[in-house]
Amino acid sequence: MRLIAPLRATLALGARPRHNPPFDRGESMQKAKINTRVFSGVQPTGNLHLGNYLGAITRFVALQDAHDCLYCVVDLHAITVFQDPEELAKNTREVTAAFIAAGIDPTRHIVFNQSQVSGHAELAWIFNCVARLGWLNRMTQFKEKAGKDRENASAGLYVYPNLMAADILLYHATHVPVGEDQKQHLELARDIAQKFNNDFAKTIAREGYPGGFFPLPEPLITGPATRVMSLRDGTKKMSKSDESDMTRINLTDDADQIAKKIRKAKTDPEPLPSEVKGLESRPEADNLVGIYAGLAETSKEQVLREFGSAPFSKFKEALAELATTRLTPIGAEMRRLMADPVEIDRILNEGARRAHAIADPILAKTKDIVGFIRS
Ligand code: AMP
Ligand code: TRP
Repeated sequence: MRLIAPLRATLALGARPRHNPPFDRGESMQKAKINTRVFSGVQPTGNLHLGNYLGAITRFVALQDAHDCLYCVVDLHAITVFQDPEELAKNTREVTAAFIAAGIDPTRHIVFNQSQVSGHAELAWIFNCVARLGWLNRMTQFKEKAGKDRENASAGLYVYPNLMAADILLYHATHVPVGEDQKQHLELARDIAQKFNNDFAKTIAREGYPGGFFPLPEPLITGPATRVMSLRDGTKKMSKSDESDMTRINLTDDADQIAKKIRKAKTDPEPLPSEVKGLESRPEADNLVGIYAGLAETSKEQVLREFGSAPFSKFKEALAELATTRLTPIGAEMRRLMADPVEIDRILNEGARRAHAIADPILAKTKDIVGFIRS
């Protein structure tokens, strides 16, 4: 599989796939960027944490210089599990604030919330009719989230990956930065694009896209922290929904909370190894080294060159210092931005307006291809 591309490769993405349509891309853009479009989403479900930051948001920031990007607060995805309406609105603004505080520029790129562009839901319906039950039945995230009481899960939770495919393909996005846990969903999005291109090959060719209508989007799963684990159990993913707040570092934690959580993070009795191989079967050590590397924008090798054979007490002290330095300014900026919800809503509205301009012609063409009559 060619899923794990090094960051360098992500910054010099290849040409847009041949079958990409010669679309009017709506937005004005620089010539050099014309062949790629980046899309990603984060759910407004509260407790944005270090995993979201290192696995996704820092990657979003890094892609901005060389690509046109859309970063979406996926509120339609969030409600696949019940959300209190007031909390949902607050969390939508909070994810937006986190994007901006982390360095995403909403004037150069598009930041918006999903429900303001109805094409996501419309294309998702078409994809509900393209994706096969057998494909959805294999999705491990659904199995994990639905748990034992599957009968009681929402129908939306089940078809969630089809909506995710729609998010990406509505913009003919070519590259999708995500954490490791989204790899399977990205594979499904590619399968949906491929099946749509095959099923409708005749009308797609008639409409002037002989190579296919939807591009097959590439996942970008990069960096040393694509899967940040719980601070209390190195075999469990760091998660927004873990009952214990000690398992994660939230982007809004203050310096004391960050230091305390790192000090109390689970470790093993051995000092750190000098080589990455020595982290095998030491999930907690591996996780902390990966977090350090992610925050310092370096590699695990480099971290171990510096801290190999150091006791955890010393390493944790350095990690707490680094995490505090990196994260507390972001938390402070998020709080500042959150104090002005009118401005955040303005940014989301403006983003939605620009997202519409890209999505509308693609959705219209999709309808022609499917055979829907429109005026
Ligand atoms: P979510 O909060 O589920 O919407 O996830 C938003 C983004 O963060 C996705 O790209 C996820 O893959 C990524 N992500 C979530 N949890 C982690 C984690 N523990 N480690 C790395 N990336 C993560
Ligand atoms: N499913 C993703 C998650 O839970 C969020 C998401 C929704 C997404 N739509 C997307 C990510 C499109 C990338 C592209 O993390």
